Amino acid sequence: MKFLIGMDIGTSSTRAIIIDQDGKLIASATADYPLITPKPGWAEQDPEDWWQASVKVIKEVICASGINPYDIAAIGPSGQMHGSVFLDRKKNVLRPALLWCDQRTQKQCDQIYDIFGYEGFIKLSYNKALTGFTAPKILWLRENEPENYKRLFKILLPKDYIRFKLSGTFATEVSDASGTVLMDIAKRRWSDDILNGLNIDRNLLPDIFESDVISAKVSSAAASLTGLIEGTPLVGGAGDQAGGAVGSGIVTPGLISDYLGTSGVVFSYSDSPVYDSQGRLHSFCHAVNGKWHLMGVTLSAAGSLKWYDDKFGPSDEIKKQYAEIKGYKLLDMQAERISPGAEGLIFLPYLSGERTPYADPFARGVFFGLSYIHGQDHFVRAILEGVAFSQYDCLRLMGETGIKSDKVILFGGGAKSKLWKQITADIFNTEIVTLNVEEGPSYGGALLAAVGSGIYSSVADAAKKVIKEKDRVLPVAENVEKYKKIYEIYKSLYAGLKNDFSKLGRIF
Ligand code: XUL
Repeated sequence: MKFLIGMDIGTSSTRAIIIDQDGKLIASATADYPLITPKPGWAEQDPEDWWQASVKVIKEVICASGINPYDIAAIGPSGQMHGSVFLDRKKNVLRPALLWCDQRTQKQCDQIYDIFGYEGFIKLSYNKALTGFTAPKILWLRENEPENYKRLFKILLPKDYIRFKLSGTFATEVSDASGTVLMDIAKRRWSDDILNGLNIDRNLLPDIFESDVISAKVSSAAASLTGLIEGTPLVGGAGDQAGGAVGSGIVTPGLISDYLGTSGVVFSYSDSPVYDSQGRLHSFCHAVNGKWHLMGVTLSAAGSLKWYDDKFGPSDEIKKQYAEIKGYKLLDMQAERISPGAEGLIFLPYLSGERTPYADPFARGVFFGLSYIHGQDHFVRAILEGVAFSQYDCLRLMGETGIKSDKVILFGGGAKSKLWKQITADIFNTEIVTLNVEEGPSYGGALLAAVGSGIYSSVADAAKKVIKEKDRVLPVAENVEKYKKIYEIYKSLYAGLKNDFSKLGRIF
């Protein structure tokens, strides 16, 4: 029996799993690290923290699995996208990495549009220049830390830094490289036009591979630190969203998924490189060899619920009533006591700005419609609904590009909530399906490793054999009608507040 390691270098933790060649989860391990926020809107992490966590979880997962590391056929890394790891010639990290949720680069995004024109850039990159993406982060470094820029030797994405630490090899793969907006998406390679226009030296970037292709091998130094065997192959792997899609079977036409993690992502497979002419959806290369995908991102999805839980937590009343129950389940139970629409309380989940459809770093969270009847239970329900409305914004845009599906696959932490599933079905007015596998990105990484090591002939073949539908939830007609009306108000709230968000952003 052969085994595969899948990794996810996430924003709050790194996770490693071992699956067997039939897709069965054998063991998992997770290690946390902090998020550094030196200023409002800034989000950084120390790549050394990811590496220490990676060493720890690889060691732990091998130990917990009880398998012989010689039987590990390959490793598939996945991870948070868009982060910028800047290395000097000695291959040391120059400064903490700027993350996907960092909002400091609006000025550099504007500079990109000045160079190519707004529409010109969308035509070239199939995407907008967004504050979270990697290209504006590179321009930020050049403008704000010229000494560091002078010493810059390589720019890596988070999981590609872990590949480098495991193997000594600089490499990336198509799905994560797409999120730099430095690629020619149709041709699946770095774009000379974009690099020349931005005056970024191609040598600063690693070579791009397909996600299921072996691009590196574990070095002897990394082997002695982790317990892996020297020479164990590493496939390209994937950005966490494409990795999550592979791990949820979104690898053939007509499939759409909704990932409810810290951020929320609506993701659709595409056989060809389609893009939204206004750049509202991200149009990236898929981790499926030679294929593409579209995605829309709600920056604070389960992140909004986590914010509520961290700051306020479940009500004293519910904690007393159900002393044996802990965690998010209690919040779910609070929200269940309130009818659809939260009696007129509407939440805009823009706690750290919003990506899709507004690409507005200044947008902020809002509770609208507050009255004397509203209490803690209403707030929780409004959060679940507001996030689902934001995800519906993404789904509608997909429909506009012609991509439709009669069901949506739901996964991520939020998919564990029965209520959130029903709310999503009602707001999307579509069937919601959950799966037998719930690991997402790390599972996708492991499946890519299985393909790269020849266990499966393709990602579609792997997904067909190991991923099965488990549960389904249908929309309730009465709720659908109610949510349709509330969605109209939800949408007009942003339009009315847009200017005030930006005025507020200039004060704070
Ligand atoms: C995707 C995105 C996030 C991060 C962190 O575009 O920014 O999903 O990858 O998970």
